[in-house]
Amino acid sequence: MKHIVSGIQPTGSINIGTYLGSIKNFVALQNSYKDHHFYLFIADLHAITIPKDRLKLRKMIKELAAIYLACGLKEERLSLFIQSEIPAHSQMSYLIQCFTYMGELERMTQYKDKAQKQASVSSALFTYPTLMAGDILLYDAEYVPVGDDQKQHLELTRDIAQRINHRFEDFFKVPKPLIPKVGARIMSLADPTVKMSKSDANVKSRIELLDDDNIIRKRIMSAVTDSEGKIYYDKVNKPGLANLMTLMGAVKNESLAAIEAAYQDKTYQTFKEDLATLVIDHLRPIKERYQELIKSDKLDDILEKGRIEAEKIARKKVMKFNHKLGLGRKK
Ligand code: AMP
Ligand code: TRP
Repeated sequence: MKHIVSGIQPTGSINIGTYLGSIKNFVALQNSYKDHHFYLFIADLHAITIPKDRLKLRKMIKELAAIYLACGLKEERLSLFIQSEIPAHSQMSYLIQCFTYMGELERMTQYKDKAQKQASVSSALFTYPTLMAGDILLYDAEYVPVGDDQKQHLELTRDIAQRINHRFEDFFKVPKPLIPKVGARIMSLADPTVKMSKSDANVKSRIELLDDDNIIRKRIMSAVTDSEGKIYYDKVNKPGLANLMTLMGAVKNESLAAIEAAYQDKTYQTFKEDLATLVIDHLRPIKERYQELIKSDKLDDILEKGRIEAEKIARKKVMKFNHKLGLGRKK
């Protein structure tokens, strides 16, 4: 069976950008790639590359696990687990660092962005892409569904895998990214030139999956747009409207051209009202399932099953790599 691998950091409440850029895609893939097994995890080791409050982190881990399932991922062909519960992830990250150049890590735009915002930068923030490469290579992933911002990390992962394969013939599967056509980069509602992000200090910049209906409507109605008043897609000159059209397209699985055609004679007000209703209706069942899951013991059972399944594969792969490299004793 082929493998699909992905992860999300438990660094804040999940917003509609993360949902449309990744989780919604996981659900669609699970329905269409019936011969693939999914290893999906909560990237808590990645989260601590920037200091976190421990109680908040623990809460976010549980919340993210419930969100994954509430969004419609099915238990079959799925191992859902917490990254830090599988020691092989940290071990593999170190081994991969031995095959990664400083120059490659220095070029990572996510590192440059995040480092700029920190008073002091941990070395783990710098080596973050090697942990991510390990997450993927441990499971010999065929595909990695991610949003646009992770493309560069995926390219690095592929380069590293090919470099290692050059020395140890086809040891790793070289993974392919799967990036959604619409929704790979949802922008902030307050400033459509920056990505919608969990860490934006301005809560008006995003819609969180668990937000109340009236908050969702308020956020959409007050989203920044231009004053031209005509509905058509122009990312450069009308970034706010383009972002809202992208949101609608991604939720509805419709092309931007179809949305443009449907709204060409309508006002921004009508368009925003329709979008708000659409988003509210789409998120309602997710919120309901979330409330059930967060209270039940089922979550823990699923995470434990996932841990056991992932551990088996990951441990074997890292031990094999140790042997290839000549580490430890020969058995
Ligand atoms: P993160 O929340 O940074 O751990 O990202 C989890 C996943 O969601 C990654 O695959 C990201 O590429 C994706 N993602 C995060 N923010 C957005 C956004 N604003 N638009 C689209 N995808 C996103
Ligand atoms: N770095 C990703 C992000 O910030 C999360 C992540 C960690 C990930 N490990 C991964 C995504 C492995 C896909 C595969 O969004």
